[in-house]
Amino acid sequence: MEHLNDAACREQFMSKIKIESRLAQIGSISEPVTGAISFPIYQSTAFRHPRLGQSTGFDYARTKSPTRTVLEQAIAELESGDAGFASSSGMASLQTIFALFSQGDHLLVSLDLYGGTYRLLEKVISRFGVTATYVDTNDLEALKANLQQGTKAVLIETPTNPLMMITDLSKVCAWAKSRGLISIVDNTLLTPFFQRPLELGADIVIHSATKYLGGHNDVLAGLIVTKGKDLSERIAFLHNTIGAVLGPQDSWLMMRGMKTLALRMERHQFNAIKMASFLSKHPMVDQVYYPGLENHPHYDIQKCQSSGNTGILSFKMKDARNIESILRNIRLIAFAESLGGVESLMTYPAVQTHADIPEEIRRQIGVDDRLLRFSVGIEHIEDLIADISRAFDVAQNELVTSV
Ligand SMILES: Cc1ncc(COP(=O)(O)O)c(C=O)c1O
Repeated sequence: MEHLNDAACREQFMSKIKIESRLAQIGSISEPVTGAISFPIYQSTAFRHPRLGQSTGFDYARTKSPTRTVLEQAIAELESGDAGFASSSGMASLQTIFALFSQGDHLLVSLDLYGGTYRLLEKVISRFGVTATYVDTNDLEALKANLQQGTKAVLIETPTNPLMMITDLSKVCAWAKSRGLISIVDNTLLTPFFQRPLELGADIVIHSATKYLGGHNDVLAGLIVTKGKDLSERIAFLHNTIGAVLGPQDSWLMMRGMKTLALRMERHQFNAIKMASFLSKHPMVDQVYYPGLENHPHYDIQKCQSSGNTGILSFKMKDARNIESILRNIRLIAFAESLGGVESLMTYPAVQTHADIPEEIRRQIGVDDRLLRFSVGIEHIEDLIADISRAFDVAQNELVTSV
C-alpha cells in the first residue's frame, strides 16, 4: 500500500473502488509512519520547518492540519469535487461561503430551507449589503423573474428542510451556469452516498456534517466541497482567513462516523419509507412530506438525480392540539432538535428549527403549527411504529377527554 501515499496513485485507486469501500477506508491508507488503520489525531497547532523557505506541508493548524486534511480529502473525493474544507459547524461553512459575496450582491435561495440559514442571511449577511430572494428553486420561471443585476449565486436545498421540496439540479445548475451564477447545494439530507450535486453541475456543496455524515449526534461540524481551481482557491483563502475550522478531535470523530455512512443511510431509508407509508394511512395525519413516496410531486426528479432517499420526513397532523401530547408521549423517539443521527428524533419546526422565519412566511410555505419533522433513526421499524402509534392513541384520548 506504500504507493498509495503518492497522491496521483491514490486518486487513481480511489476512483476505481465503490463508494461503500471508499467510506469504510477513510484514513486507513493515509498514515505512512506506523500504518495505523485509524488515522491518528494530530493535536499540534504548530509544525517545525526543516529550513528557511521549507515546509512539511503543514505550518499552522488553522491553515492546514493533518487529521483535518484526511477528512477534507475524503469528502472532496466522495462528492467528486476538487477541494474539501472542514468547518466548526454547518453554519460556519455557510458563513465561509457567503463571504465570497460583497456589498450589492444578491442571492436566489430556496424558499423552504433550514431556519438557521435564513437567520444568517437576514440578520447577519444582509448587514453587509448582500441580499437574498427566496423562491421555489425548481421553478425556472420564478428564478428568471427574480434575477437581478447583482445576482451572483443560487443556493439550493434539495430535499428542503423541512418540507422535502425537490429541485432538479441538472436543470437549475445549467441555467445558473448560463447566467454566470454560482450554484451552491446544501446536500445535508442526502449525503454523497445518495446524491452528488457536483456531478450534476453544481459548483459548491455544503453539509451540516453534524447530521448524517457524523451520524451519531455527537459532533458538530460543517463540510464544503468546491469544483474548479478558482473557487477552490477562494474558499481556501476564506476558510483560513475566517478561521472557523474543525479541530483534530472532531475531524477524527467525523471520519469515524463516515466509515459506516453506507450502512446507516440504507437503514435510514428503509425505515423512513416504512414510516412514511404508515403515517400516510393514519387517520390523524393530514399529509406526509417524503420524496420516497410515489405521490410526492417530484418523486421522478428525485429518483433520477439520487440513488436513494433520506431518513427525514415531515408530516402534518389534522389537529394542532395533538402536537403537545405526541411530543410528551413518545418514548423511544426523542423530542429533540437535530436530524441524521442513528437515534430517532422528532422536531417541531415552527417553534424550534424554523422559529426565526417570520410566521407569515412560515405559514405561506406550510411550516405551520400542525407540522412535525421526523428524523427516522436506525432502530427496528416495528419499535418505532409502536412508539408513535401509542403516542398518537394517547394524544387522541387526551383530546377526547378534554372536550
Ligand atoms: C439543511 C441544513 N443546513 C445547515 C444546517 C446548519 O448546520 P449546523 O447545525 O451543523 O451548524 C442545518 C442544521 O440543522 C441543516 O439542517
